[in-house]
Amino acid sequence: MKTLRILSVVGARPNFMKVAPFLRAIQAHNRSPNARVSLAHTLVHTGQHYDDAMSDTFFRTLGIPPPDVNLGVGSGSHAEQVGRTMIALEKILIEQRPDWVVVVGDVNATCAAAITAKKLNLNMAHIEAGLRSFDMTMPEEINRLVTDRLADLLFTPDAIADENLRREGVPPTRIRNVGNIMIDTLDANREAATALSLSDILSRQRVTAGNARPALDGGYAVLTLHRPANVDDPAALNGLVRFIINEAATVLPIIWTLHPRTRQRLEAGGLWSAVQATPNIVTLEPLDYLDMLRLNLDATIVLTDSGGLQEECCVLGTPCLTLRSSTERPVTLAAHGGVSRLVGNDLEKIRQGFDELRQLPRRPHRPPLWDGHTAPRIVQALAETSSL
Ligand code: UD1
Repeated sequence: MKTLRILSVVGARPNFMKVAPFLRAIQAHNRSPNARVSLAHTLVHTGQHYDDAMSDTFFRTLGIPPPDVNLGVGSGSHAEQVGRTMIALEKILIEQRPDWVVVVGDVNATCAAAITAKKLNLNMAHIEAGLRSFDMTMPEEINRLVTDRLADLLFTPDAIADENLRREGVPPTRIRNVGNIMIDTLDANREAATALSLSDILSRQRVTAGNARPALDGGYAVLTLHRPANVDDPAALNGLVRFIINEAATVLPIIWTLHPRTRQRLEAGGLWSAVQATPNIVTLEPLDYLDMLRLNLDATIVLTDSGGLQEECCVLGTPCLTLRSSTERPVTLAAHGGVSRLVGNDLEKIRQGFDELRQLPRRPHRPPLWDGHTAPRIVQALAETSSL
């Protein structure tokens, strides 16, 4: 039987949930008696996220095998991360010359791997193609544009993404609407997350032992922040934090999971002790996938600037206050049947959104093909290329 060699590249936290179902679907394909081609897979981790909490724990929880190669690029400026990834990955790709290089999402690893693969004239496929925020100040938008311009196969999560690509002149034969691979992970892990105890998570992940222990039976809000527009701009961060401390936390307990970047900025901006001293705010170390899903399952409202959480809230029906002025995932907004509302860091909009959304019932919504079977469709499409 012919073998098709696939090399996938991951680098940062939001990549891991996307590659886990892809690897499972490859294994399932290889076990299938009808398979006409065997798939050999190599997993490369660039090492952009390297902490146990930001990386290893996701491999364990999601059952991802340890990477075959770790490029160890670590933290740094964008040019440093992209440059180091390209230099290290080029050697691996020259050595292996896979039939396909597969990249996921929109982080620096995605864009660096896409450029390196295409400069070596290798086939490259992008999972989660076609998303556009139209905000060129976001590093992720640049990563998405470059990756999609170079990709040979573009696996999109929804029809809006297809339309974005068509408008940019991508030949329709390269575009495959396969649905959202994040939802494969959500569906596969929902039962396990439901079984977890909320209070166990809170005690295990608490940042400081003296931190607040509010009762959660009357509901709670989950907060995550990490985008430069919110946390690197001291005025924006100060406004958001004051709203959380002085207003939001007076009506609902706030469970705040802290990205390393955010914690650094809170400490540098002199806001850390005020957050820690607020009785209704519980600060947690970064959570693994199951813990985060458990929090989302019962949250009254989620306040976030994460794209992935916006999608998970959409399927779970959790009202989602999206702390961004644009989104590359409009399919999750109320206008498209979702539960997310864009409020940027405009305090008036945030206040109004928080008051309205926390009163809403959960309203689960699945856009077409967000059915938990996206990864097998991707694997099928890649396997079919072996007969071309
Ligand atoms: C990256 C992605 C972003 C994604 C986010 C989710 C890009 C351009 N951005 O942003 O799309 O939503 O991950 O997590 O790729 N740090 C640690 N431990 C780690 C990793 C990072 O302490 O394991 C610290 C470092 O000090 C670093 C900072 O966090 O400077 C930010 O990490 P970085 O990889 O630069 O970008 P993110 O903000 O995480």
